[in-house]
Amino acid sequence: MPTGDSFVRDRCRGDMIALLDVGGEGRYATAMNLNPSAEKTLGPDKGRPIPNRIDGRAEDIPLPDSSVKAIVVERTPLRNEAIDELARVATNDATLVFRHPVDEHSDPHARVVEQINGEVEIGQLEFDGQMVQQLTIRLGAG
Ligand SMILES: C[S@@+](CC[C@H](N)C(=O)[O-])C[C@H]1O[C@@H](n2cnc3c(N)ncnc32)[C@H](O)[C@@H]1O
Repeated sequence: MPTGDSFVRDRCRGDMIALLDVGGEGRYATAMNLNPSAEKTLGPDKGRPIPNRIDGRAEDIPLPDSSVKAIVVERTPLRNEAIDELARVATNDATLVFRHPVDEHSDPHARVVEQINGEVEIGQLEFDGQMVQQLTIRLGAG
């Protein structure tokens, strides 16, 4: 499986990316996984290569403006620079989904809602045995 820049060039030349998993380790078969780590960091496959990986960080995504139709960010650091980058690479009708633990001390999703305009939906779900908040933002619908 090709990885890194050559994978991006081979698969994405001139095309939209259907699904980008930021901090992804291979949960979604059809996703491109943006991750600075070449290897999975969690679970029984820890240490194995991350498939379909784009080598990079959420704060500096190596993709063009308006090139990603759906983005998922699960339990991955969400700095303000990263939120700006997600807004930059998303198409104007993209859907973005965020899943993170949220409590009174830490609510990374509040900053996402401030920085990205769209139709917002918030729910709770159990994810890998952990309660997380799911924030969905649909651009171009709000
Ligand atoms: C707790 S794991 C979550 C993995 C997966 N998203 C999940 O929920 O199962 C955090 C992941 O974020 C990646 N990561 C850490 N800093 C990152 C950054 N600045 N940009 C993108 N990914 C990052 C790590 O390498 C790791 O794979």
